[in-house]
Formats: sequence, structure tokens, C-alpha cells
Amino acid sequence: MLKGVVLGIVLGVLLVVAGVYFYFSSGHVPVATNSPEMPLERKFAAAALHAYLDQQPHPNPQVAADEPNLLAGAKVYKEQCAVCHGLPGEPKTFMADGMFPKPPQLFRGVGVTDDEPWETFVKVESGIRMTGMPGFKEHLSDRQMWQVSVLLKHADGLPPTVKDFLTGETPAPVAVTSGAPATPAPSIATAPPAGAAKK
Ligand code: HEC
Repeated sequence: MLKGVVLGIVLGVLLVVAGVYFYFSSGHVPVATNSPEMPLERKFAAAALHAYLDQQPHPNPQVAADEPNLLAGAKVYKEQCAVCHGLPGEPKTFMADGMFPKPPQLFRGVGVTDDEPWETFVKVESGIRMTGMPGFKEHLSDRQMWQVSVLLKHADGLPPTVKDFLTGETPAPVAVTSGAPATPAPSIATAPPAGAAKK
């Protein structure tokens, strides 16, 4: 009797494993970015992300949301984020439009202004696996990640200088123009105040 039950359970488990394997190797799993979603894909992904976020520390922002920090955050954003998350008043890039899941346009609608900065910080630091959202821990300083996080928290109420810098309508203040664009992590953290020369 017991033997039969155990055998039944083992067979049941094997069947499920075989079923999942068959599904993934059948060629019917959506791979193209414009295919429909997999069953429960978004639900599982959101559950995993929220559980991960809950486990992370929830510190207050480690930089003030003042103009120099917002400008420094805007520089990081323009160089590292805008290609996917867009700039105020600009159309989505082809790249953003061709992704799955689509990167939210952070200067349209509420963006992430309703998220606490720590939540944005964690996403920027760690990235979000299998979405295209990169983790920047190895390439941006904590300070830069906080600066871009407070920028996004205040995306709906930025000082005109910061907004103009993002839209490129005014020349960037000296403190945020320097540094070769190809350098992933110019040291904003140690940047001298606006007006001072920086290498
Ligand atoms: C290559 C494209 C790409 C780049 C570059 C990128 N992201 Fe993302 N990002 C994404 C995608 C795609 C998502 C959506 C992930 C999801 O659906 O779970 C995302 C999600 C996010 C979210 C969560 C949005 C929400 O509504 O909860 C934040 C915040 C974010 N990114 C910030 C940034 C910042 C800041 C940078 C630059 C330092 C950046 N991203 C660079 C693709 C990108």
C-alpha cells in the first residue's frame, strides 16, 4: 500500500518535470519580444521582485535632494538610463520600444515618484534579471546611485536647471559636462562645485 503511494508521488513529480521540460523545449514558449506573455509570467516575476525588495535594507536617501545632487543624478541618468527610460518630452527610443518587458518611461506619468528612493536604489544597484534592467553596482558609486534615485523621486518637480539639462535646452553646468562619455563611472562623488575645473 505505502509502496504504491510513494510510487504514485514519484511518478507525479516526474510527470510535472517532464511537462515543464516539454513546454520549454517545444518551441512554443514566447521568445520574441513581441510575443504574448507566458502564462503567469508577470505574476511570478512581480512576486519574486517584491519578495527580494522586502529583504533589502530600507535606508533613507544618503544624499539631499538639492540642486547639485539632482544635477549629478541627471548626468548619470542621461549617460546610463535615458536610452531605455527616456527623457522629458522626447519620444521613446527604438531600443526601449523593442524590449520585453518594456522599460517604463520615467519622465512620463508618475514614473517612480511614488516609490521610496531606497527601492529605486536597490533596483539600480542590483538590476532586475531577465528584463534588460542592468545592475550598476560595479560601475556607479553609492553616491551616484542615490543621486539618480532622488532625481527620479522628484522627476515631477525638478528645478528648471535640472530639467533644462535633461532636455538639453541649456548648456550643461560645468560640473556635469566633463568626463568622456565612454567612461561608465566618472567620479561625480568627488566632483568639485560647479564652476571649478575637473579633469
Ligand atoms: C537596457 C535598458 C535599461 C537601462 C540602460 C536601464 N534600465 Fe531601468 N529598467 C529597464 C527595464 C526593461 C525595466 C523594467 C523591469 C521590469 O519590468 O521588472 C527597468 C526598470 C527600472 C526601474 C523600476 C521601474 C518601476 O516602475 O518600478 C527603475 C527605477 C529603473 N529601471 C531605473 C534605472 C536607472 C536609474 C537606470 C540608469 C542608471 C536604468 N534603469 C537603466 C531597462 C533599463
